[in-house]
Amino acid sequence: MNQPSTSALKLHHEIHGDGLPVLMIHGFPFDRTIWKSQVAALSSDYRVITPDLRGHGQTPASDGVYTMDLLAHDVLALLDELGVERAVWVGHSMGGYLSMAALRLAPERLMGLALVATHPHADSEDRRIQRIQSAESALENGSANIALSMMSMLFATNTDPKSPTARGVYDIMIEASPEGLNGALRGMAERPESVATLQALSIPALVIAGAEDQIVDVAVAEKMAAMIPQAELVVVPEAGHMVMVEQPDATNEALRRFLSQY
Ligand code: MLT
Repeated sequence: MNQPSTSALKLHHEIHGDGLPVLMIHGFPFDRTIWKSQVAALSSDYRVITPDLRGHGQTPASDGVYTMDLLAHDVLALLDELGVERAVWVGHSMGGYLSMAALRLAPERLMGLALVATHPHADSEDRRIQRIQSAESALENGSANIALSMMSMLFATNTDPKSPTARGVYDIMIEASPEGLNGALRGMAERPESVATLQALSIPALVIAGAEDQIVDVAVAEKMAAMIPQAELVVVPEAGHMVMVEQPDATNEALRRFLSQY
């Protein structure tokens, strides 16, 4: 059994390109390769850093609850290891939740924030209960059950669930370790509201939303963009929760435009 951990864990990661550091943080239960198209498009001009979060991809799991603070500490420790003082952070879904935790823990480490298919709200009581049930199911039945149950929620209607794109996402999800899923699900269930954090944001922000996202409704993303003092909103048509793999060109164009201000 792994030991429960409350201190930073060394994250497996890739770095491509040189220049302004752009840190791209995947969501649940994905890994760094979810950003493949963004890395290809951005690494000619930027130093793109893509970690695997604790218990995801090639980073080992620990037991216990992965609070968003703990996951943010892992990422901050990676930046320390790489000698990166400040970066533009890009967070997809849970990657956005932990970026909001980083804004509270170490705001000086973020010089910009792109929030992709994410939102600032804590779970409802019902959602919390579901998360704990899923966490128990992950430990009992493994990752495939969770991956299967998520598949119908991840894509826009035009994205064929049998397409290589969708299969690729499924293949990533089934590789996540059950302990990692358990830790992240329990951590998301505990996460606090981040509305006040975003309302006080004083760095440039970009909100990218899939017009057909079934996990983060586009209306929620629009409200989030409106509450951030310096935010641009890009709603990508024919995209669901996995906007960056479903519509990579539109996502890359939005990110490039945002990054060009630095
Ligand atoms: C994610 O993509 O990170 C998850 O769908 C977030 C969540 O379940 O709230």
